[in-house]
Amino acid sequence: MSQPERKSQYTEEVNATLQWMWGDGYLSPGGFEEVAEMLRSVDVRGRDVLEVGSGLGAASVALAETFGARSVLGVDVEAHLIEHSRERAAAAGLAERVRFQLVDPGPLPFDDASHDMVFSKDAIVHIPDKAACYAEVLRVLVPGGVFVGSDWLRGGEETYTADAREWLDFVHLDFRMETLEQTRRALERSGFERVGLVDRNEWYRGEVRKELATLSGDNYAKLVEVVGEEMAGHRLDSSARKQRVIEQGFLRPTHFVGYKPAAA
Ligand SMILES: C[S@@+](CC[C@H](N)C(=O)[O-])C[C@H]1O[C@@H](n2cnc3c(N)ncnc32)[C@H](O)[C@@H]1O
Repeated sequence: MSQPERKSQYTEEVNATLQWMWGDGYLSPGGFEEVAEMLRSVDVRGRDVLEVGSGLGAASVALAETFGARSVLGVDVEAHLIEHSRERAAAAGLAERVRFQLVDPGPLPFDDASHDMVFSKDAIVHIPDKAACYAEVLRVLVPGGVFVGSDWLRGGEETYTADAREWLDFVHLDFRMETLEQTRRALERSGFERVGLVDRNEWYRGEVRKELATLSGDNYAKLVEVVGEEMAGHRLDSSARKQRVIEQGFLRPTHFVGYKPAAA
C-alpha cells in the first residue's frame, strides 16, 4: 500500500538553486566530477546498476553514458524528480538502458541478487534507519557485488553542535547524520566486507568557498532573476551557515565502498 504523500524537499526552486551551484542535473556537491571521483577505483562497465536517491537523474545517465553500465535503474521518493530523470535519459538517447522508478521509503521493491552494483550519492542522509537501508542494499546485490556511495556524515561529536542545529533548522531538510565510525560499523554489521571510507571534508571546504562565489555579485543578481530574491537569499544564508559547520569539521561528506561477500 502506498504511503501518504510527503512534502517535497526538492521543489523546482530548490532544485534550480542546487543546480546553480553543482551543475545541470545534480542536487549534490561536486556534480559530475565528484561522481567520477567516487568511481575512480570501481569498474562500472557491463554492470546492472541500481541508484538509490537518483534525484534529477544526471548520475544515472552518466553511469551508463560515460562509465559504461549495461543498465541503470534510478529510484527516488519524489515523483516529479522521476519525471525529470526520464526526460533526461530520453534526451540522451538512453531511455532503454537508463530507467527510473518511484519508490516508497523502506524496503527496496526488487528481488534478491538483482543488481551487480548499487550507487548512491548524498541520499541516505535522508533515511533514518541506516542499518535497514544497508541490509536492503546487500540483499539486492549479487554475491561479490559492490556498493559505492557518498553521504553527508558528521564529525565524532556525541551530539549535533549548536551551529549544526542552526544550519539544519534553517534548511528544513530531514537530515539524519551519523559519524564515519558509526557508518563503517553499520556497513560491516550489515554484512559488507572490504569497507572503505574517504572523508571529503577538506575538499568540500574549498567547494563551499566556490559555492559562495556562485552566490555573489553578478552571479547572485542572475540567480535572483531565475528564482527570485527570497529563494536566492535563503540559499546564500544556508551556504554561509554550512560554511561554519564544514570549517568546524562537523560536516563530513564521505565516500564509501563495500562488497557483498562472494558466494562460498
Ligand atoms: C541531495 S539529493 C541527491 C540526488 C542525487 N543523488 C544527486 O546527487 O544529484 C537526495 C535525494 O534522495 C532522495 N531520497 C530521500 N529519501 C529517499 C529514500 N528513502 N529512498 C530513495 N531516495 C530518497 C531525495 O528525493 C533526493 O532526490
